[in-house]
Amino acid sequence: AGEAHVEDFDFPFEGPFGSYDPLQLQRGLKIYTEVCAACHGLQYLSYRNLSEEGGPMLPEDQMRAYAAQYEVFDETLADGQGDYRPATPADRFGRSAVANAPDLSLMAKARAGFHGPYGLGINQILYGMGGPEYIASLMVGYEEAPECAIGNEPAGFYYNTAFANGSVPDSCRDEHGHVTIEGSWIAMPPPLLGEDVVFDDGHENDLHHEAADVAAFLMWTAEPHLNARKAAGMQGMIFLVILAALLYLTNKRLWAPHK
Ligand code: HEM
Repeated sequence: AGEAHVEDFDFPFEGPFGSYDPLQLQRGLKIYTEVCAACHGLQYLSYRNLSEEGGPMLPEDQMRAYAAQYEVFDETLADGQGDYRPATPADRFGRSAVANAPDLSLMAKARAGFHGPYGLGINQILYGMGGPEYIASLMVGYEEAPECAIGNEPAGFYYNTAFANGSVPDSCRDEHGHVTIEGSWIAMPPPLLGEDVVFDDGHENDLHHEAADVAAFLMWTAEPHLNARKAAGMQGMIFLVILAALLYLTNKRLWAPHK
């Protein structure tokens, strides 16, 4: 694999005080639903999760209406023959509709956007693993094929500067076989072009915003308890600071008569 270009998007859930923005997750859900779901599944996500604290926080009735748009096959219906029924909050999202399109539930944790100097991983300490940055960069990474590929482009694949693991024609490799360009060819056609969805509140829907919103949504599906985890970490830190202060004072007091 060669080099890949990953842009450092700013997400509201970054840093020790970061948390998901429910409105951004709702926009991401809309993009997933209207665009990505044509090929990709979210098999580890249940409809009820959409209303949970720390997520898109859809009002209960909207979540139920969202689920009811879909049909699931229920083996217990029709005397054990099985039949289709509208999905309920307890049902999972569908699986990928296209065989070679991977499930996206955990994708933001399965990919890294930032790689440190080998053996150090410094970038990952400073910037995080970069899963959502990678997904957003993949969305904006479709470009004209570089000159070396003209006439040799793999048929049915699309050049993407963020995708490092795809095929690269020999004409874009040096004599040792090393890739001389950024990115490679991916089987996914450009899913977002900008203005693919329209938001009820008129929020920006250019390519860059859509890419960030869908990536934020997929970060939530991969790590639904991030808000709670960060809040617990912060409480732990505050507790430790207070405990340290009390221990310091206790220590002073205990030793005061002996000094
Ligand atoms: C792969 C995201 C829409 C077909 C992927 C990957 C991601 C992704 C993150 C994994 C790349 C990797 O392995 O590192 C999205 C998002 C979409 C979307 C966020 C919506 C905005 C679509 C659509 C199709 C599609 C509509 C079908 C027309 C594929 C296929 C792959 C793929 C076939 C495998 C590519 C390969 O390994 O060469 N997608 N996708 N995707 N996607 Fe999508």
